[in-house]
Amino acid sequence: MLGNFVFSNPTKLYFGEDSLKYLNEELPKYGKNVQLVYGRGSIRKNGIYHKVAAILKANGKNIVEDGGVMPNPTVEKLYQGCRIAKEGNVDLILAVGGGSCCDYAKAVSVSAHCKEDPWKKYYLDFEDVDPDTKIIPVGCVLTMAGTGSEMNGGAVITNHGSRLKIGHVFGDRVFPKFSILNPVFTYSLPRYQMAAGFYDILNHICEQYFSGEDDNTSDYLMEGLMRSLIHSSLIAIKNPEDYEARSNIMWTATWALNTLVAMGKSTDWMVHMLGQAVGAHTDATHGMTLSAVSLAYYRHIMPYGLEKFKRFAVNVWNVDPDGKTAREVAEEGLLAMEHWMEEIGVVMNIRELGVTEEMLAGLVESTLIMEGGYKVLTQEEILGIFKESM
Ligand code: NZQ
Ligand code: ZN
Repeated sequence: MLGNFVFSNPTKLYFGEDSLKYLNEELPKYGKNVQLVYGRGSIRKNGIYHKVAAILKANGKNIVEDGGVMPNPTVEKLYQGCRIAKEGNVDLILAVGGGSCCDYAKAVSVSAHCKEDPWKKYYLDFEDVDPDTKIIPVGCVLTMAGTGSEMNGGAVITNHGSRLKIGHVFGDRVFPKFSILNPVFTYSLPRYQMAAGFYDILNHICEQYFSGEDDNTSDYLMEGLMRSLIHSSLIAIKNPEDYEARSNIMWTATWALNTLVAMGKSTDWMVHMLGQAVGAHTDATHGMTLSAVSLAYYRHIMPYGLEKFKRFAVNVWNVDPDGKTAREVAEEGLLAMEHWMEEIGVVMNIRELGVTEEMLAGLVESTLIMEGGYKVLTQEEILGIFKESM
């Protein structure tokens, strides 16, 4: 483990079929006013809203409604959430939903009492939360496995006006105080969202795995997480109500992006930057923006990280390296990943997400360039990857 690092993760997790009851243990720790954050209706349809509201009422809480959080929450919604938080004098923000609700809740938690414009401060200038800014505590009841937002400080906000989708990774003061993970709550996810979540999980791991050349425990952990995900995802697409598979996937998603496996890694995140640019222009589903650009990206950078791609092929995809060059093994690994992506049914090109040739220059403009992976991309290379992904 090279370098120096700090690991701390303050989020308390309650996991399993009976985990919602633990909301009763958490709620007494906070004041009366609870901002109940949720999306565009799924929790009303599947009954989760009713269950959560009943527990809030039984604990004497005053529910401050904040529904309608859209997938890829917008800056306008963030401003609205800040007004709701301040007017309702809220003591706790409870997000019930997927990554969009959890991210949005965290963004509101640091923005409601921020004296400056949060979009500029946190997203354009990447500034930290001022030490004297009151952070409203956040709790999550997760209904979709994918982002890891339930146990991290990430909060991605989209600004359609400036065609930017930007994530700020806040420190551990902003992590959810608690998250409730009931795999059964994910059963009602449409197949498209389920598959998008699966790819998001794999890609979070790849973004951290494809960096560095040292022997690092994090890489071994990640190989195990990827193997578990691949195994369970193939069961879940055939039978979405297989509890064993869905529960493993939910747990894997959390560990894929709760900072643990990033320890000692420079981390890449370039697929996410490409995907976020696609998202900023199309508002497409997050996981699908990643799947649509991934293969072109990985095939492009593979020669710069050949040994790691070879290891990925052998240790994650069971490619037999005997009698093959490193490049052949690495290519076979990416091909195996491609087959898995087809099997789980993710989007394989950006055209399907609404990208046209005329949009490509704008996509390049919206792509932030990261420096932790095997190759720092130029804008020409980014354009080439987008073209290849069409
Ligand atoms: O609007 P609702 O009713 O909530 O419906 C959602 C939405 O339409 C639906 N859904 C969620 N759980 C469901 C369900 N439908 C039926 N049954 C359920 N149990 O699924 C759709 C997608 O939900 P969303 O929350 O948008 O998905 P996801 O969890 O993928 O979150 C995406 C957001 O998270 C950000 C993304 O950029 C995007 O804005 N990310 C956050 C990260 C983080 N905090 O670290 C990292 C990720 O890389 C990602 O960038
Ligand atoms: Zn992601």
